Amino acid sequence: MAHASDASAFDQECGDCHSVTPGKNKKGPSLAGVVGRKPGTAAGFANYSAAMKANATPWSAARIDAYIRNPKAVVPGGTMKYEGSADDALRASIVSYLVSGR
Ligand code: HEC
Repeated sequence: MAHASDASAFDQECGDCHSVTPGKNKKGPSLAGVVGRKPGTAAGFANYSAAMKANATPWSAARIDAYIRNPKAVVPGGTMKYEGSADDALRASIVSYLVSGR
C-alpha cells in the first residue's frame, strides 16, 4: 500500500521528468498504469529510444526496481538521464507508489 511519503519520493526523484497522470508526458513518458505495460508504449510519447521500443519484457514491480537502480543495465542504450539509486528503501517507496496505480 502506498503512503504519502511514497508520492513525495516519486516527486523528488522522478517528478521532473515523469507524471502519473494518463497522457501527461514530460521529458519522460507518463507512468500511469506502467506496471504490466510493454516498454515504450505510453500514448503520445515520441521520444523513446530504439532500445526502449525494442524491449519486449513488460514492466513488473521487480523490473522497475532494477531499472531505477541501474537504468543502463536493464535497458542498454536507453536514454533516461537518471543515474540510478542504491537506496533500497527509496526505490521500494517509489515502486509501491507506481504499483498502486496512481
Ligand atoms: C531526467 C529525466 C528523467 C528522470 C529523472 C527519470 N526518468 Fe524515467 N524516463 C525518462 C526518459 C527520457 C525515458 C525514456 C527512455 C528511453 O526511451 O530509453 C524514461 C523511461 C522510464 C520508464 C519506461 C516507461 C515506458 O513507457 O516504457 C520507466 C518505468 C521510468 N522511466 C521510471 C522512472 C522512475 C521511477 C524515475 C525516478 C526514480 C525516473 N524514471 C526518473 C526520463 C527520466
